[in-house]
Amino acid sequence: MKIPHSFIEEVKYRNRIDDVIGSYVNLKRAGSNYQGLCPFHSEKTPSFTVFPNTETFHCFGCGAGGDVISFVMRAENLEYMGAIEFLAKRAGLAMPDTGEHENESDKRTRFYEMNRAAARFFNQMLHTPEAEPARAYLAKRGLTAAAVKRFGLGYAPDRFDALRKHMHSLGYTDEELKTAFLCGKSERTGNYFDYFRGRVMFPIIDNFSNVVAFGGRILGDAKPKYLNSSDTPVFKKSRNLFALNFARKASAESLILCEGYMDVIAVNMAGFPNAVATLGTALTTEQARIMAKYTKKVILAYDSDDAGVNAAKRAIPMLTEVGLEVKMLRLEGAKDPDEFIKKYGATRFKTLLDDSQGKMDYLCEQVLKKYNILLPEEKTKAADELCRVLSEVYSDVEREIYITRMAEKLSVDPKSMKNDVERQMRRNRRDETAEMRRRIVSDTLGYGDRVNRDFVKNAKAARAEEAILGILLLRPELVREIRSGQISLSAEDFLTDFNKKVFCAILDGDDPFDIGTLAETFTLDEISRITKMQVSRASLSKNDASVLSDHIRTLKAEAPREASEDDLADIRSLLDRKKK
Ligand code: UTP
Ligand code: MN
Repeated sequence: MKIPHSFIEEVKYRNRIDDVIGSYVNLKRAGSNYQGLCPFHSEKTPSFTVFPNTETFHCFGCGAGGDVISFVMRAENLEYMGAIEFLAKRAGLAMPDTGEHENESDKRTRFYEMNRAAARFFNQMLHTPEAEPARAYLAKRGLTAAAVKRFGLGYAPDRFDALRKHMHSLGYTDEELKTAFLCGKSERTGNYFDYFRGRVMFPIIDNFSNVVAFGGRILGDAKPKYLNSSDTPVFKKSRNLFALNFARKASAESLILCEGYMDVIAVNMAGFPNAVATLGTALTTEQARIMAKYTKKVILAYDSDDAGVNAAKRAIPMLTEVGLEVKMLRLEGAKDPDEFIKKYGATRFKTLLDDSQGKMDYLCEQVLKKYNILLPEEKTKAADELCRVLSEVYSDVEREIYITRMAEKLSVDPKSMKNDVERQMRRNRRDETAEMRRRIVSDTLGYGDRVNRDFVKNAKAARAEEAILGILLLRPELVREIRSGQISLSAEDFLTDFNKKVFCAILDGDDPFDIGTLAETFTLDEISRITKMQVSRASLSKNDASVLSDHIRTLKAEAPREASEDDLADIRSLLDRKKK
C-alpha cells in the first residue's frame, strides 16, 4: 500500500523547500526565488535556483531539479521512502500506518533484517570448530577479538548451503536471498547456493546502522581475493563507504580514505576511527560528496604501488571538486597502511598522518619521479606535464608559488614556465567549452540522453509536448479540463514515450498534481527533466488555455517519423541561438 497523498502533502507543507535546501546550500534571495551554488556539481557562480512558488528547484548548470523530496533523495542518498521518512522526522511527524500490506518501507525493513540475520550467522560461525582456519587466518593478520567485535566480522563456511539453510529456518525465501546477493542461482541446474563460501566476512553498515551488504575475503591465495555484494534495491556501492558508520562519529578533523577493508580495520586498531574505504570499486563523485558532508579534509592512504598511485591521481580531482582539502599519506617501506602499522606501529603511523603531503607537492613529485631531468628530452616532457598539473590550480597565488618552485627544480626561467602554464589554462578552458557544447548537442539530439530517447526523431513534437507538460504542471485547472474532455488531448497524441509516460502520470495523479509523487516511479534524472519543463514555462509570461491549444495543435499535426535533415537543421539553429 502507498503512503497516502495527504501525508506527503503534510510532510511537504512542514518542510518548506527553501528552508530545507537552505540548510545545505547558502541561498541568496533573487526576486521571488533563491539562488546558490549547486550542491550537485562544481561551480563558482550560482546557477542553482529554488522556486518557492512552485516548490521546486532547478540547476541551470547541470540540469538537476525536482521538489523537496527528490532534493533530499539526492543530497542524502536516500530512496523515495527514505526521503519521506527523513523529512517526516525533520518535521516531527510520525510515519502513517499503511495497513497490513507490505509497503516499501516494510520491504526495506525486511531486507535489512535479512542482512542482519546473515551477519549474525556469519559471526556465530566464526566461533565453531569448522572456522578454525578462519580464526587462524585472522590471528595471522593480527585481527584481535576486539576488532572482530567492533566490525562484526564473521565467517562464511566453505559449504554450498550453510547460510541458505539457516535463513530458510528464519523464513527467508531463495528469491529473497538472491536479491540480497546472499545466494546465487545456477543457470544450468536452477539450484540456489551460498554466494560467500570459505571467506572472512565484512558487513557493510549504512548511516542508519543497517547491514546493507558484505565483503568477503578468501583465506588463502585463491581468486577472487574479495567478493562484494552487488547493488540491490536498497544498496548502491557507489553511495556507501566501509566504516563510515564509525568514521562520521569520530569527530576528527579529517577522514582517512584507504583502499581496502583490512587497511581501515588496521588504522582503526591503531587508534584512528576516522578511516573509510570504497567497496571494491574506484572512488565515485557521490562518495566524495558524502565525505564532504562530514569533513573538510581527506587524507588519501592508498597503496604505494602503481595501481594505488593511479587510483589516487583519479581520486584527487574528484575530492577537490567537492571542496575537500586533499592530503597524501607518504607510505614508505610498506605497500599499504595495514602493512605499515604491522611493521612500524601506531606511533609512527601517527607521524605519517601528521606529515601528510599536500596534493600539489604529491602530484609534482610524481611527475619529477618519472623523468630524468638531466636529459633535455625528458626534462621537456617533465616541464610539459608539470604545466598541465599547475594549470589546474585555481588560486593564482598558489599557482605562482608552485611555478617558481618547479622552475627552480628544472632550472628553467619561471617566466617561460608561467607562459606555458597560462597557455595550458587557455587550452583547458577551450576543452571545457567544447565539452560543454558537445554535451548540449548530444543532449538535444537525444544521443546519450537517457531521459527522452525519441526526442531527435520527433524534435518538433517533443518540444510541443514539453511545452504542454510544462503548462500542465503550472496550471492544475487545465489538467482538469483535459480530464473532463473540455480540452481534447489524450496519451495517444504523444509521440515520444517518455513524455507520454509523464502525461499519464499527471492525468492519473492527484489534483493538484505534485511533482513529489513522481519520485516513486521516475528516476532522479527524469524528475530533473520534468522540473525543467515546468521551470522553462514558468519563466514565460503566458501559460493559458490558448497557448496550450496552440501547442496541442502543433503536436497533433506531427506524425511519428525518423529523424530527417529538417529536424537536424532545426536543432542546429536552436543550438546556434543557445550559444549566443
Ligand atoms: P587489496 O588487494 O589492496 O586489498 O585491494 P587489501 O585490503 O590490501 O587486502 P589484503 O590485505 O590482501 O587482505 C583493495 C580493495 O579492493 C577490493 C577490496 O575492497 C579490497 O579491500 N578488492 C580487491 C576486491 O573487491 N576484489 C578483489 O579481488 C581484490
Ligand atoms: Mn593489504
